[in-house]
Amino acid sequence: MSKFWSPFVKDLVPYVPGEQPKMTKLVKLNTNENPYGPSPKAIAAMQAELNENLRLYPDPNSDRLKQAVADYYGVKTGQVFVGNGSDEVLAHAFHALFQHGKPLLFPDVTYSFYPVYCGLYGIDFEAIALDEQFQINVADYQRPNGGIIFPNPNAPTGRALALDAIEQLLKGNPDTVVLVDEAYIDFGGETAIGLVDKYPNLLVCQTLSKSRSLAGLRVGLAVGHPDLIEALERVKNSFNSYPLDRMAIAGAAAAFEDRAYFDETCKKVIESRAVVVTGLEELGFEVLPSAANFVFARHPQKDAAGLQAGLREQGVIVRHFKQARIAQFLRITIGTPEQNQALLDALKGL
Ligand SMILES: Cc1ncc(COP(=O)(O)O)c(C=O)c1O
Repeated sequence: MSKFWSPFVKDLVPYVPGEQPKMTKLVKLNTNENPYGPSPKAIAAMQAELNENLRLYPDPNSDRLKQAVADYYGVKTGQVFVGNGSDEVLAHAFHALFQHGKPLLFPDVTYSFYPVYCGLYGIDFEAIALDEQFQINVADYQRPNGGIIFPNPNAPTGRALALDAIEQLLKGNPDTVVLVDEAYIDFGGETAIGLVDKYPNLLVCQTLSKSRSLAGLRVGLAVGHPDLIEALERVKNSFNSYPLDRMAIAGAAAAFEDRAYFDETCKKVIESRAVVVTGLEELGFEVLPSAANFVFARHPQKDAAGLQAGLREQGVIVRHFKQARIAQFLRITIGTPEQNQALLDALKGL
């Protein structure tokens, strides 16, 4: 704390990201990165940008990337927004679409950045309890609100919500924005992007950090009605005109264009997830049904914090949240088959 701080900074509670350890040789299953590298075409596209043109600013509108996303999803470029990671896209959405003097609604167990953005932008929120099976019950969201946000599949539970339930939510809340954060959608969920033409209050957010293996590049996107996109562009252009650099625009566009690589790597992760679930269940864990690139599991007899520490001693890192309802769960990212085996072997001795 210092006298130089703006007053509101002293009350800010920042997000704490999962550890990015400096040690090599760890089996890193704690932040839901993809175990496979980015598309070779994306890497080539980024390498092609490493030239003297870097003295020039990038395209402030990232048109090449918006076009690639629009082509992929069959929408218009005016329905696409891009930003520096979906965290930045989400931040702009909170700022541009959720400040209406009524509480924002999101699940009690969800992505822990949401309350942080509420703190940053002075937005009240109500955390709506997931049911006993950690599922969203859309009827619980039928109450006055200034917006609704949830990940689909949810994080850290991995549980997916069906599109008809999302439509119910959209129909029941026509006067506020429903933001579906699809960070993990490509590992088994069904995207709501097909609904954006029907529901002007729907904004769908995605990231290239997970299914497109580009967490290090920082690229995220949103798709929705052009009026929602315009609000995001206004905030973005009041904050940073150039959130995506030349490499990011080229690499992300190429990643979207390389469908074959994307399909192949997603399939491998999904197949490995089934192996991890079986392995964990054989060790006595209860595993929530997951449509994501991670699983959320608890052992009826073993303490989750102790398991996390024991795994760490063996060089395997997973995520544990010291939080009501989920303190006995571990969130485990799906790795390569070798990493997954290392996890299961390490757990056997604990
Ligand atoms: C639900 C959810 N949304 C958004 C993000 C942010 O992703 P990024 O900023 O890397 O695009 C994450 C990252 O883990 C996430 O779990």
